[in-house]
Amino acid sequence: MKFAQRLAPLRSNVFADMDQAKARAKAGGLDVIDLSLGSSDLPVEPHVLEAIAQSLPDASTHGYLLFHGTRPFRTAAANWYTQKFGIPVDPETEVLPLIGSQEGTAHLPLALLDPGDFALLTDPGYPSHIGGVLLAGGQMYPMTLREENGYLPVFTEIPMAVLEQSRMMVLSYPHNPTTAIASLSFFQSAVEFCQRHNLALVHDFPYVDLIFDPTVHQTQVAPSILQADPQKTVSIEFFSLSKSYNMGGFRVGYAIGNRELILALRNIKAMVDFNQYQGILQGAIAALTGPQGGVGRSTEVFRRRRDAFIQALSRIGWQVPIPRATMYIWAKLPSKWENRSLEFCTYLVENTGVAVSPGAGFGKSGEGFVRFALVHEPEVLEHVVDRIAAVL
Ligand SMILES: Cc1ncc(COP(=O)(O)O)c(C=O)c1O
Repeated sequence: MKFAQRLAPLRSNVFADMDQAKARAKAGGLDVIDLSLGSSDLPVEPHVLEAIAQSLPDASTHGYLLFHGTRPFRTAAANWYTQKFGIPVDPETEVLPLIGSQEGTAHLPLALLDPGDFALLTDPGYPSHIGGVLLAGGQMYPMTLREENGYLPVFTEIPMAVLEQSRMMVLSYPHNPTTAIASLSFFQSAVEFCQRHNLALVHDFPYVDLIFDPTVHQTQVAPSILQADPQKTVSIEFFSLSKSYNMGGFRVGYAIGNRELILALRNIKAMVDFNQYQGILQGAIAALTGPQGGVGRSTEVFRRRRDAFIQALSRIGWQVPIPRATMYIWAKLPSKWENRSLEFCTYLVENTGVAVSPGAGFGKSGEGFVRFALVHEPEVLEHVVDRIAAVL
């Protein structure tokens, strides 16, 4: 069968290679401990499960759900946002329900890019951001993130010829995989840049709550892009229930922002899906409007894991920076493995059963690093470090 050319770049990816290495390790009888996927192992709060359970026997929730039926969810999302960031949001025109933020960020380029147009993406960055651009027939311009710049892109490095053909920029802070945080003043410069060059500014914000010191001197350490663009002139922000509320498998998120961008994405999605199941949206409403104690408790769990893991790594001589946000550790490989992240990760899983993500999977500039997802308890993480020590 003849397949479209756009499939080719999607076929080869280092995560698929890692998946095979994991399967080989399992088949070889190793007890695999998986730190390669950012999928929270923590439970969903009971009041959220209860809301979903109550919907299940209700036949009125079983049919297709059109946009207008999602109004209660959009209202909950708008109110949640306004309470947190103090910016008013119109649930009718400025909110769009999503089947996870990945779905939304991967579909948006279809609304913005003509074949050959550029999207400005961070390198390293989240793989589906690139995937969506390729599906839309666009080209990706990698904005290299360097440690010495706090893993923030330097806009003046983007060539004029690329800018002239660019339609969108994608940012995502707190950042996966580097764990970096962006300041409000950086976001202000990004908004000005995008306004000047007529670019849509996309901010993927799933780690909005996974911040270890949420405020310093009463300033939000991980700001929303809309705080830098309160009139929503060029910006759209993507949120997820996967991290704050541990609902990754339920597939629910939302976009908030510029009404033209929201409408454009809505038009694309109208050809693709019929929204998430209403019962799950009821659960998401319960999560967004109910008691928020669980969010803080989850963050505390990740903080304890972070500290235990970093201390254990330090004991074996592997020093890594302490992240201020996210559920990851971004670690520079010891010099013996320099620039061989896929080789290191394959060797590690095949010899010890410990699975982690190679930095190269997040882009060329991720090479030389690995990403650990803190999705196990501290005792397990300490045991992981013992296994790593055997390899190093
Ligand atoms: C930057 C980023 N965007 C999106 C996602 C996926 O979120 P969702 O489960 O809402 O699709 C992740 C998950 O790890 C992520 O790190």
